[in-house]
Amino acid sequence: MSFKGKVVLITGASSGIGAGTAIYLAQLGASLSITGRNKFNLNKVAEQCGQPKPFLVTGDLANENDVKNIIDSTIEHYGKLDVLINNAGIVECGTIETISLKQYDNIMNVNVRSVFQLTTLAVPHLIKTKGNIVNVSSIGGLRPFKNRTPYCMSKAALDQFTRCVALELASRQVRVNSVNPGAVITDIHRNTGMNQEQIKIYYEKMNRAHALGRNGDTLEIAKSIAFLASDDASFITGVTIPVDGGLHVMSFQSCEDIAKQ
Ligand SMILES: NC(=O)c1ccc[n+]([C@@H]2O[C@H](COP(=O)([O-])OP(=O)(O)OC[C@H]3O[C@@H](n4cnc5c(N)ncnc54)[C@H](OP(=O)(O)O)[C@@H]3O)[C@@H](O)[C@H]2O)c1
Repeated sequence: MSFKGKVVLITGASSGIGAGTAIYLAQLGASLSITGRNKFNLNKVAEQCGQPKPFLVTGDLANENDVKNIIDSTIEHYGKLDVLINNAGIVECGTIETISLKQYDNIMNVNVRSVFQLTTLAVPHLIKTKGNIVNVSSIGGLRPFKNRTPYCMSKAALDQFTRCVALELASRQVRVNSVNPGAVITDIHRNTGMNQEQIKIYYEKMNRAHALGRNGDTLEIAKSIAFLASDDASFITGVTIPVDGGLHVMSFQSCEDIAKQ
């Protein structure tokens, strides 16, 4: 699998799955545009990508001007776009009785609205290159989880977005697919406000939720993203692939129920 000569834009590349994907695709020869808000972290990821150094563009995906700048500056720098990886995302916790409208809006703005905007801006460029899109959804788009309703709603919306846009762009030979990870060890759970001890317990309990008996790591997700983005997946479009150690085939229990055991 080679990405030589391919320009790949990755959102949320300053951390976790996005960072892992950037480093992996760099090894496969991709010309990268990597984005996030945290410039320090983006620079650290860029160093790990080696040469040629990725193009860095900082921006808040909840800000429309920043989103536009991400596409415009990428096109100005490379002159084209072959692959868009909509990876950035956030989690907010709370039940239907406790979660606030502000948390709901935060989730929807980053996990859905920004993806919609960035994709609309990227599509004219992807049509020119017969490129493709990989959305990073979640097993929470395909299965319900207590205490995560807006997050699961956002990922279900993203999955339907994947299918609809795949259908719309297929005649132009632009493929659109999704990976739906299970629990992967990244900063996303720390960012929900859990402390170190709570995160440790959460991951220990989540191991048991996966049929394979363990959480995933970022490289395992990166490899699936790379496959879908590559020519090896030339006959695949509109899919939402669980990359979840078999979490989706387990008898359903909510994360919280598992965490209480
Ligand atoms: N880890 C898991 O267990 C898991 C499971 C299923 C699905 N996922 C999905 O995988 C994707 C990546 O998550 P992760 O686990 O790698 O999380 P992470 O380590 O917290 O990384 C999230 C990334 O999103 C970026 N981001 C967040 N809000 C942003 C905003 N407003 N503007 C611009 N960038 C923003 C962050 O960059 P800055 O902080 O620099 O802005 C960061 O690079 C998400 O879509 C998530 O829903 C994760």
